[in-house]
Amino acid sequence: MITLQPGLIHHPGLLDRAAQAALLDAIRNIVRASPLFTPVMPKTGKPFTVRMTNCGPLGWVSDQAGYRYQPQHPVTGTPWPAIPASLLDLWQRVAAAAPPPEACLVNYYAANARMGLHQDRDEADLSAPVVSISLGATALFRYGGVSRTDPTRSIRLSSGDVVVIGGASRLAFHGIDRLFPGTSTLVPEDGRVNLTLRRVTLPG
Ligand code: SIN
Ligand code: FE2
Repeated sequence: MITLQPGLIHHPGLLDRAAQAALLDAIRNIVRASPLFTPVMPKTGKPFTVRMTNCGPLGWVSDQAGYRYQPQHPVTGTPWPAIPASLLDLWQRVAAAAPPPEACLVNYYAANARMGLHQDRDEADLSAPVVSISLGATALFRYGGVSRTDPTRSIRLSSGDVVVIGGASRLAFHGIDRLFPGTSTLVPEDGRVNLTLRRVTLPG
C-alpha cells in the first residue's frame, strides 16, 4: 500500500490473476445485460473515447444534458445489473468505514482511449471514497490537487491494482493519459477495463 498524497492510496497487485479473471468474467456478464454505450460531453456533445456501462442501483451517465446518476441504462432503459459480491467484498477490504457503494462505473478503454483530467464530484456523499480497480493494459494515471491548475504527478496502474480516492484527495483531479500496449493479456487487443465503486447518496 502506497500513499501517493493524503487520501490517495495505491494498492499495487491487490487482485491476483485468478481474481482479475473472475472479475472480468463477471463484467462480461454485466456488459451482456447492460451494453457499453458511448457517453458524450455535456453541452458540446463530443464523444468520450472510453465506452461505459454500470452496475448497481445507480449508474453514472453523461449526455448533452449533463452528468448524473440514474437507475436505468440510458439506451435500453433497463435497470443496471447488481454489483458483483466480489466487488462488495473488495469495498469492505479498502473502504470499510464508508456505507456500501451504490454505483459501479465500468469504463472500457480500447488501446487508444484516454480520459481527460476531471474530478468525481457528482456524488451527494463526498465523505465516502471512490474505489478504482484496473484490469488489463497498464495505464498512465495522472493525479493532482483539488484545483485544475495544481501540479500533477503520474504513476502506472497495472492489472489488479486498486486505488482509493478519498479523504483530502476525494476531489483531486485525475485522468488517464494513455495505455501501454503489450503489458497484459487479460483484456484482448491491449484493452483496459477500469471499475470505480462509488457511494452516491447520503446514508439514512
Ligand atoms: C475514472 O476516473 O473514472 C477512471 C480512472 C481510470 O480509468 O483509472
Ligand atoms: Fe474519475
